[in-house]
Amino acid sequence: GLQRLVVTRTLPQASQARLDKGFEGIDIVQWKDDRAIPRSEFLKMAKGADGILCLLTDKIDAEILDAAGPQLKVVSTMSVGYDHVNLSDLEARKIALGITPGVLTEATADTTILLVLAAARRIREGIDAVIQGKWGTWSPTWLLGSQLTDKTVGIVGLGRIGIAVAKRLKVFGVQRFLYQGTRRKEDAENQVGVEGKIEFVGLERLLKESDVICVCCALNDKTKNMFDYHAFSQMKDTVVFVNTARGGIVDQDGLIRALREGKLGSVGLDVTVPEPLPQDSELLTFPNCIVLPHIGSGTLETRTAMSEIAIENVLSGMKGDRLPHPHNE
Ligand code: GLV
Ligand code: GLV
Repeated sequence: GLQRLVVTRTLPQASQARLDKGFEGIDIVQWKDDRAIPRSEFLKMAKGADGILCLLTDKIDAEILDAAGPQLKVVSTMSVGYDHVNLSDLEARKIALGITPGVLTEATADTTILLVLAAARRIREGIDAVIQGKWGTWSPTWLLGSQLTDKTVGIVGLGRIGIAVAKRLKVFGVQRFLYQGTRRKEDAENQVGVEGKIEFVGLERLLKESDVICVCCALNDKTKNMFDYHAFSQMKDTVVFVNTARGGIVDQDGLIRALREGKLGSVGLDVTVPEPLPQDSELLTFPNCIVLPHIGSGTLETRTAMSEIAIENVLSGMKGDRLPHPHNE
């Protein structure tokens, strides 16, 4: 009989067109809406699925897998992060997990640079001043930010995205890179290409010595709430702190407290807890804190490449083939 493919959202146009055309032997069931599929709908729709193509907004756990049934072979998420997926629940059922690595590296690194510069140069305050008629005159002393020349940048997680961020920052005259992670990565250091100016350090040194800190690591048990009030207290009071990875890596109450106490220079976030961030969050009240709505990979080119990989992963898994991009490679 027909296999069942469950897709939890409308995809970028080129990929959606492929789904609309259909695949032989496959019945596609899709949540075609711009909001995330409600859990109760997802549980119903998952029933009988051989493959699930989901997003980072869909929690994948035992409940969903059991609702789908024992024929489920593959979960393919249109994201590089998979902290929304309970891996042990998948492994226990021998279900493959596909992700979309590589194709979003450049777009996400671009967004990181965007936030570093926007935060360092006080873009939010500048734009607000222009819109509100508070632009009095050019002033030698007004809205002064900081620049990257000769500075020290701390990269948390020197993976694909961390490397791409460091490479970009080189061009701005950054003097020295510190990085943090589970281990020293000489190959990654070489890829950044700043011989002698990149050093694997402990978190404490990174916090104390960095002028700019970019969070580029995955969210997992080790990185959850890694940046808490204590961590923010150790940073320079001029620090530019940017997170384009996952909101959960930051203890947001600790961040808010540090901002309230004036302990941080400026902050740029593309990710929060929860998402969407409620409009009345205190996080939005600080002029030196910029929040974007998780658009790190948000270019047409990248999102199309991601959805194409997600389709290839799910189709391969449903056939019982090796996934082109499994989570563990
Ligand atoms: C985006 O956040 C992703 O994980 O792809
Ligand atoms: C600034 O606009 C300058 O001309 O120095």
